Amino acid sequence: MLDEGSQPWWKLATVYQVYPRSFYDADGDGIGDLRGIRSRLGYLAWLGVDAIWISPFYRSPMADFGYDISDHTDVDPLFGTPDDFGELLAEAHKSGIHVLLDWVPNHTSDRHPWFLESRESRTSSKRDWYIWRDRSPEGGPPNDWISAFPRAGSAWTWDPHTEQYYLHSFLPQQPDLNWANPEVVNAMHATLRFWLDRGVDGFRIDAIPELAKDSLPRSGRGPAELRPANWPSVHDLLRGIRKVVDEYPARVIVGEVTILDQRHVVTYVNSRDGLHLVHNFSLLHQPWDARRFRHVVDEFERLLATDAWPCWLLNNHDNARAASRYGNGIRGARRARLAALVLLTLRGTPFLYQGEELGLENVPVPREATVDVNGRDPQRSPMPWAPPSRAGPGAGFTSGHRPWLPLTDRAEEVNAATQADDPSSILHLYRRILTARKRHPALRLGGYEAVETDEAVFGYLRRHGDERLLVLSNFSDREVRPLPTATARTRPARCSLLLSTGTRQTPGKVDLMALRLEPEEGVLLQLSP
Ligand code: GLC
Repeated sequence: MLDEGSQPWWKLATVYQVYPRSFYDADGDGIGDLRGIRSRLGYLAWLGVDAIWISPFYRSPMADFGYDISDHTDVDPLFGTPDDFGELLAEAHKSGIHVLLDWVPNHTSDRHPWFLESRESRTSSKRDWYIWRDRSPEGGPPNDWISAFPRAGSAWTWDPHTEQYYLHSFLPQQPDLNWANPEVVNAMHATLRFWLDRGVDGFRIDAIPELAKDSLPRSGRGPAELRPANWPSVHDLLRGIRKVVDEYPARVIVGEVTILDQRHVVTYVNSRDGLHLVHNFSLLHQPWDARRFRHVVDEFERLLATDAWPCWLLNNHDNARAASRYGNGIRGARRARLAALVLLTLRGTPFLYQGEELGLENVPVPREATVDVNGRDPQRSPMPWAPPSRAGPGAGFTSGHRPWLPLTDRAEEVNAATQADDPSSILHLYRRILTARKRHPALRLGGYEAVETDEAVFGYLRRHGDERLLVLSNFSDREVRPLPTATARTRPARCSLLLSTGTRQTPGKVDLMALRLEPEEGVLLQLSP
């Protein structure tokens, strides 16, 4: 049995992703900022999260909204100043909230001084800091790799000045660093130490599988392999990164691994010297089907090494929001509530994405207002904090001009202030489940055991010492009796309902074998021996 006192903080934590442009605009320019984040720490503490991961706020030309960094150790004036960050960090720590930064090791901006120097001449001392190649014998790019952003096309861009191509796994404005060069490794490690020395609690690491390029094959590989990713030596690079982080106590690294084959995903956490946590996108790619969700979780749990730790997410700034993904209207809203229960009761560290707790949907952006090259504007719509009838058209996100992306036209109901006043809101549901996580060690540390039940239901036990909690989630739109013939494992002497995602009154005693779940209802039950 895991003993709570001996566990690192991040195993017990719930992490909340802040996308700073869209979180809270303190200076009225229509774009969120660091002082804005600071002013909302009270809300985050009230919600019950233990850590925030802040998407990049470093100096950047913003071709990819901060994921193109031109100075790793400075704050972009759009977001504030280094002092603003210092104050945010100190205040977050005072409120018991850990702070993770987003670290982008695969590439820099094409305006980063390193790249400017690299592209100056073929003999530049920084030439080999990036990946430069001659044209192919036929005259085109060195190979047929394509960018992760389909609209960017080839992963190679021709530089007429030095007459070579450079590699970019993402936009042409994001040239890939050459991690085979030890000088690059040292320089990037130094950027980690810079922020670790300032007291940050760890990093979310961007685009990890892209980092290594063991060779540059000409072509002839299948379409799925037309991208530079997941070469074996990425694990050596990761070991080096982990060593730097381990120089500091109690820090954590969580990596973005967009590969969907979980056999590969676990390799990033199964050795003790790689990532602490991995963002596994398999769950988020499943259709709304209890069996498919269970399959992903069962498989991941089976593949994970005993001392490795799971981590789950259903939303981030790159993916369609769950509240839209699983349907619209009332059904979508019920499903978003059920998804919250699943996410927050699985074994492992959950990651939330700002607005998820409000049931915020994708916000359509008219073609002429589109700003992202990869269609991700709808999930980046600003946070509605207050009803427009009270706070004006900026819905409490901004007092000033127009927000940089349109706000939801449902902001009158879908906003933090209105939902905070309504105990039946999805916001309160998130808060209740997070409170339950704090109260029940079985939710934080207990094992995961799938339970045989109706095929429309995803059920599992979380057990820690004497405490047994049962989660039953009905993915179907019909009423279901999940456990008509309970087994010895789930047949308790007493069973009480801790919470429901539906309309049921809680808490209360329940006859487990007679229990019927409403359409798309999930329940958290406590079983007593
Ligand atoms: C990651 C980020 C994404 C960014 C890309 C390039 O996938 O999450 O937002 O565009 O890396 O840095």
